[in-house]
Amino acid sequence: MASEYAFELASSSIRFGPGVTREIGMDLAEMKAKRVMVLTDPNLARLSPVATVLESLRDNRIAFSLFDRVHVEPTDVSFREAIDFATRANSTRWCGRRWIHHRHREGGESLLHPSGGLSRLRQRADRKGKPAPGPLKPLIAVPTTAGTGSETTGVAIFDYTPLHAKTGIAHRRLKPLLGILDPENTRSMPPQVAATSGFDVLSHAIESYTAIPYQRRPRPDRPVLRPAYQGSNPSATSGRSKALRWVSKYFVRAVEDPDDDEARQKMQLAASYAGVGFGNAGVHLPHGMSYPVSGWSATSAPRASRATIPSCLTGCRDPERAAVFRFTAQACPERHLVAAEILGADVSRARPEDAGRSSRTGWSPSCSG
Ligand SMILES: NC(=O)c1ccc[n+]([C@@H]2O[C@H](COP(=O)([O-])OP(=O)(O)OC[C@H]3O[C@@H](n4cnc5c(N)ncnc54)[C@H](O)[C@@H]3O)[C@@H](O)[C@H]2O)c1
Repeated sequence: MASEYAFELASSSIRFGPGVTREIGMDLAEMKAKRVMVLTDPNLARLSPVATVLESLRDNRIAFSLFDRVHVEPTDVSFREAIDFATRANSTRWCGRRWIHHRHREGGESLLHPSGGLSRLRQRADRKGKPAPGPLKPLIAVPTTAGTGSETTGVAIFDYTPLHAKTGIAHRRLKPLLGILDPENTRSMPPQVAATSGFDVLSHAIESYTAIPYQRRPRPDRPVLRPAYQGSNPSATSGRSKALRWVSKYFVRAVEDPDDDEARQKMQLAASYAGVGFGNAGVHLPHGMSYPVSGWSATSAPRASRATIPSCLTGCRDPERAAVFRFTAQACPERHLVAAEILGADVSRARPEDAGRSSRTGWSPSCSG
């Protein structure tokens, strides 16, 4: 088996600034869009991020259809609903189709072009592993948490109910055309959501930094088969350490005070930087462990008690995370120690075998990843 010799850095265009959401209508007018589909969830549909987008579309005479039934922890069933909505809308009025997606992007919609969307979804979910069949409709992603970083990734995560499993569709063609990072959109985030999505940033940054290096992976037969999750590579190292520094400095502040503009802005940038990191390197054990738990909670738990366990929390609680990094640390101790140092640990006297060891001393565990 030939080893990989190349890596690819692919990311969406990202626009950051308080209030940039108001520009979306102008972007679409530039793109000659006549009609767009706006996707969000019922909760966000009544909040200012969505209202600002719809106002910008009206101001720029862009017709739109609002799909506000996106699920937290989406499933193939909720994808189907979005397909049917797009298909119905499509058969009547679409021209110059465009997509706007609010929230974390299952990304599915852009893959779920009305014709044959679900059959492709089944093929991919059944691990046929075929690459996305061609260029997809442009997608503008507007994250409202800080966050998944999914405005930069070509990954759509969903729960596949027939298998009661959380899985994903990953291909560079799923990446949004534009990610709109507007810190005003995360101001209304409840502390619990700020905490769980903040842990996602932490995990994305550390996991993509400590993933198996790309050179130790098999070389694909054709470039289109090179996976989005290609293993750790130098492409986004600087972004990841920046993301970790911001998490270390601003995460708690952003959770405790949603009006702390500096903390909110830095956490949103950290989410995107960590997104570029894991979107091109991948995640590993913590996320892998979280899927069965959040997948179960989304598809199998008794409907009445189906409380969504945010995926970013299931593999992230301290005891588990410490255990995970104790396990992974020996694979690349130097990188775990670097991450520990960025998060505040004193590693000046650390030996490689100390990597992953937790000191249980509050926020700055010494010598642990
Ligand atoms: N595609 C990717 O690359 C990728 C990466 C990581 C996670 N994910 C997926 O993203 C999902 C998690 O997304 P998330 O962490 O952004 O949470 P979320 O978007 O699912 O939101 C969680 C809850 O918070 C509410 N909420 C979100 N933003 C708000 C705001 N600004 N104000 C008030 N309420 C708000 C939502 O309405 C929802 O009820 C999971 O399904 C996970 O699998 C995808």
